[in-house]
Amino acid sequence: MAILNQNVEVLADKAALVERAYEITIEQIEKAIAKQDRFTIALAGGSTPKPLYEALSQADLPWSKIHIFWGDERYVPADHPDSNQFMVRQAWLNKIDIPAENIHPMHTVGADPATDAKRHEAELKEFFQIESGFPQFDLILLGMGDDGHTASLFPQTEALAVEDSLVTVGNHNGQPRITFTVPLINQADLVVFLVAGENKRPALKRVFATQEDAQQYPSRLIQPRGELLWLLDRSAAAEL
Ligand code: 6PG
Repeated sequence: MAILNQNVEVLADKAALVERAYEITIEQIEKAIAKQDRFTIALAGGSTPKPLYEALSQADLPWSKIHIFWGDERYVPADHPDSNQFMVRQAWLNKIDIPAENIHPMHTVGADPATDAKRHEAELKEFFQIESGFPQFDLILLGMGDDGHTASLFPQTEALAVEDSLVTVGNHNGQPRITFTVPLINQADLVVFLVAGENKRPALKRVFATQEDAQQYPSRLIQPRGELLWLLDRSAAAEL
C-alpha cells in the first residue's frame, strides 16, 4: 500500500482495496460502539463496494447496535435489480441476524421523489433526535463515477447546491435519484471513498487537481469536518 498523502491510500488491486475498507469499517464500528454503544453507517451503491458488503456479512458483530442507511438510492422499487437497497440486502443484510428496525432504506416510488426525499429526511431527524442541523454519521462510504459524481450528486445538477436539507432529489440523465446532500455527508465522522479501475483515472485527476470546477466534479465538494480517506487501487491512481 502506498500513502499518497494523509488521506489517500493506494492499494495493489480491488481485492486489496476491499480488504482495507473492511479493516477500516470494523475499526470504526468498534470505536463507535465503545464510545456510544451504537454505530451508524451510510452505504454507497454501485458495484465497487459489493464485495465489501459480502465480507461484512461474514463478520461476527453486535448487529443490534449497528444501523444501516444509504447515501443515495435509485428511484426504483426496493426489489428492482438497480436498487442499492436490493444489492445490499442480497450481498449482506439477508445473511445476518440484524433487527429489521436497524435497516433504514430510502423509500422510493411511494409518492414522488421530492416527497420521498422529505420523508427520509424526517426519518433521519427522528432517528438522530434532531430538529435542525446535520446529524453525524460514524461512517459514510462513497463511490465515484467516471464523471466525478458521488452518491447521486451529479455534475451541474441542482442537488449540488442544496445546503438546507439532509436529503434531496438527484438527477442522473433525467432519471430521479434520492441522495444525501453535501452538508450531510460533510458532517460525518469519517468518509471513505472506494475507487477502483482505469476508467476512474480521468475524473480522479480532476477531483485531485489544485484548481477545478467542483460543479463539474462533485466529489471535490466532499470535505468532511471529520476524516476523509480515499482508497484507490493502483489502476485508478496511476495518473495522480
Ligand atoms: C450509485 C452510487 C454511485 C456509485 C458510483 C460508482 O447509486 O450508483 O451511489 O455514486 O458509487 O457511480 O459506482 P461503481 O462503484 O459501480 O463504479
